[in-house]
Amino acid sequence: MINVAILGAGIGAQHLTALRALPETFHVSTVVDQDAARIDAIRDGHGFAASTDIGQALNDPKIDLIDICLPPHLHVPVTLQALAAGKHVVCEKPLATSMADVDRIRDAALASGKHVFPVFQYRWGFALAQLRHLMATGLAGAVNSAVLETHWSRGADYYAVPWRGTWEGERGGAVLGHAIHNHDLLTHIAGDIKAVSAMTTTRINPIETEDTAAIIFEMTSGALCSSSITLGAADNDTRLRIVFDHLTATSGSEPYAPGAVPWTFAARDPSRQHDIDAAVANAPAEPAGFEGFFTELAKALTGAPNAAVTLQEGAASVALVTAIYHAARSGARVTLPITPDHPLYEGWLP
Ligand SMILES: NC(=O)c1ccc[n+]([C@@H]2O[C@H](COP(=O)([O-])OP(=O)(O)OC[C@H]3O[C@@H](n4cnc5c(N)ncnc54)[C@H](O)[C@@H]3O)[C@@H](O)[C@H]2O)c1
Repeated sequence: MINVAILGAGIGAQHLTALRALPETFHVSTVVDQDAARIDAIRDGHGFAASTDIGQALNDPKIDLIDICLPPHLHVPVTLQALAAGKHVVCEKPLATSMADVDRIRDAALASGKHVFPVFQYRWGFALAQLRHLMATGLAGAVNSAVLETHWSRGADYYAVPWRGTWEGERGGAVLGHAIHNHDLLTHIAGDIKAVSAMTTTRINPIETEDTAAIIFEMTSGALCSSSITLGAADNDTRLRIVFDHLTATSGSEPYAPGAVPWTFAARDPSRQHDIDAAVANAPAEPAGFEGFFTELAKALTGAPNAAVTLQEGAASVALVTAIYHAARSGARVTLPITPDHPLYEGWLP
């Protein structure tokens, strides 16, 4: 049984639901929020302890795993404190907002021997399981091109939360806060990114950070992919279209579960459509979203083969954001990885 303290009762409520769905593996001992009313709002008869003090959870010897669902500026300091206290860590996105901090976390994790799991729960969904199955059976081939749309709608009510829309509090705009999941899915499916070109702007709300972006990725494989981001769409739509050698995969438009069915998988050679449809029908079922994320995490903690999100993958997402902001500000095409001599290695805050 893995004893968990959830820090932050916003998105933390969804973590709680997923952890409750895995009662053989996880026990939520404590929920911490400086606003006690937010804890009450998600208690729903559950017997966890409530606290307004992060330190209390960090010092509790019963807690194995600290689940950080706090605003972004607290992610790095609380991750480092939790590792120093000998806890495993789940950290909501973004893991960090500089490669220097990512390297501090990596060093602290090595020193403590504990795991850090960055949150990318959108990898789990039945359609993505189907796609992974098609890739594993060789029916897809290599990725040649992909288009990602993060076309969401955010207004004044969203930015009423004081940390949002500011460089200090949110540490970035739609590139960091909204499209980060789609960009993670791109690398999950199409491999590492070698270089990016990007433009960003603020057009939708009176905020400091960007709410619109256009990005081009050169993948290590040579594939060319692109990402279109706005927070001024009519509705919240996410769409991914990935063109492989032998099929084109097109997602639905569900924004908060892009891996959910239905996707379409269209054969380039119509005579192979039957094989593709048969493989899709045989794809293994898996838990979706946060439940899938925590299921794989538990396997990692017991040393079993797993598909948990790794610290290295969280680091890659921070490196990519660094590259996108540098590309947008400089106009240059920026290559990865981001090394300590990079001008934004210490962070991208203006
Ligand atoms: N994975 C996803 O799909 C997803 C979705 C939404 C948010 N997030 C991320 O989760 C994080 C939290 O976002 P949110 O929307 O839940 O924000 P939120 O503001 O709704 O919730 C954060 C909570 O943290 C509490 N808090 C802040 N400082 C604290 C402190 N020092 N001690 C104790 N409690 C404190 C606040 O009272 C608040 O209830 C952000 O990093 C965000 O990017 C991820």
